[in-house]
Amino acid sequence: MKRIARLGSGFIGRFYADSLHGQRSKDKIVSIYARKEENAKKFAADYGCEHWTTDMEEAIARPDVDIVCISLPNYVHEAAVMLCCKHKKAVMTTKPLGRNGEEALRMLRAVEEAGIFNGYLEDLVYTPKFIKAYESVKNGALGRILWAKSRETHPGPHSDWFWNIELAGGGCILDLGCHCVEIGRIFIGKDIKPIEVMCWADTQVKPIEAEDHAIGLIKYENGAIGQFEVSWTFRGGLDLRDEVMGTEGTIWMNNFLRTGLEMFTTGKGADYVAEKAESNTGWLFPVGDEINDLGYNHMFTDMFNSLEKGVEPRETFYDGYVVNAVLDAAYKSAKSKLWEPVKLEVWRGQEGLTKPSTLVDYDADNYLIKEEMTHYGAKKVILKNKKTGAISEKILE
Ligand SMILES: NC(=O)c1ccc[n+]([C@@H]2O[C@H](COP(=O)([O-])OP(=O)(O)OC[C@H]3O[C@@H](n4cnc5c(N)ncnc54)[C@H](O)[C@@H]3O)[C@@H](O)[C@H]2O)c1
Repeated sequence: MKRIARLGSGFIGRFYADSLHGQRSKDKIVSIYARKEENAKKFAADYGCEHWTTDMEEAIARPDVDIVCISLPNYVHEAAVMLCCKHKKAVMTTKPLGRNGEEALRMLRAVEEAGIFNGYLEDLVYTPKFIKAYESVKNGALGRILWAKSRETHPGPHSDWFWNIELAGGGCILDLGCHCVEIGRIFIGKDIKPIEVMCWADTQVKPIEAEDHAIGLIKYENGAIGQFEVSWTFRGGLDLRDEVMGTEGTIWMNNFLRTGLEMFTTGKGADYVAEKAESNTGWLFPVGDEINDLGYNHMFTDMFNSLEKGVEPRETFYDGYVVNAVLDAAYKSAKSKLWEPVKLEVWRGQEGLTKPSTLVDYDADNYLIKEEMTHYGAKKVILKNKKTGAISEKILE
């Protein structure tokens, strides 16, 4: 059993608590910190927490706390992490790790110097669909990964601080792009270096300083490309889709809308449908088990099993830092309109990779471009002459 101090009783704090007390019911939130007394008290009552406080350090420092779970607004992550370092408490922090790469790097260095367990709570790489897809990718079903696209769009976040560029650190690029970057990074290979980013971003609808819509491309050292599509102005709910393309295959994933459960109601008796659903009448796309389908259960299982075994979880502060560094480059590119380098002061993967050759031998004289069986039963090959570069086709008998 692990005893948890929970910092933050808001939107994600409650999703996390439902997961923590659900799947691995042996783990228990023993202390809840919230800024407002009434929120701390209500959370404590709802989740049977023996201790509540409006003093963050008090929650962290309690001797009965094994691990601290941070689900506070982005601008408070660093202060909370530093307190965990001070009290040498294992810590897990929600996404994004920092408001930028600098903040994330300070947090990474601090937890590593303090020698404490650190987990990065990136739930979308723990969804059942992601886990299944990643197994296939890892086992080679898709060959060499060329392109990984991830999309998260919705009608905008639920609390005031998200909309304040200072407090949040950015708009939808940081808030949603952090998920997309890590999804792409895992499919392409965490040890493959992201080197450059090109990004378009704009504030198309909301009266805010930050971007509410963006698209970005992340170039990796081995030639693979990551793509993110993010929006706080998308109408129709929470759209979470990923696409992976390799030399030998393709995966399409839809995590939220159109997952196979579709329902129509006139509205009589309809209620909560799913996170950020915009309507509870008409055609609806309810989500079977939101806590599980969004990855929270598998994420916390990995965190606690790793903590117990004394090993790193699959997602650590280092991963959070790499994501922040990629997004810093995206923000630069959106301004400069140029490919911007990803600045990684700490990089623990491969270095100096090059793009693999595209030349596949067909015979002594030719490279193979493509072979295909036609609808009229002929097998056709398209070839490129090794010496002249001429392209030709041949029908095989
Ligand atoms: N899928 C996900 O992983 C996911 C989803 C939503 C939010 N988040 C992240 O979780 C964090 C919190 O987001 P949320 O949606 O729960 O926000 P929220 O506004 O619903 O809740 C924030 C909580 O922090 C407390 N708080 C607010 N300002 C504070 C301050 N200055 N000092 C201390 N406490 C303060 C609030 O009282 C509240 O309990 C953010 O970093 C966000 O990016 C992650």
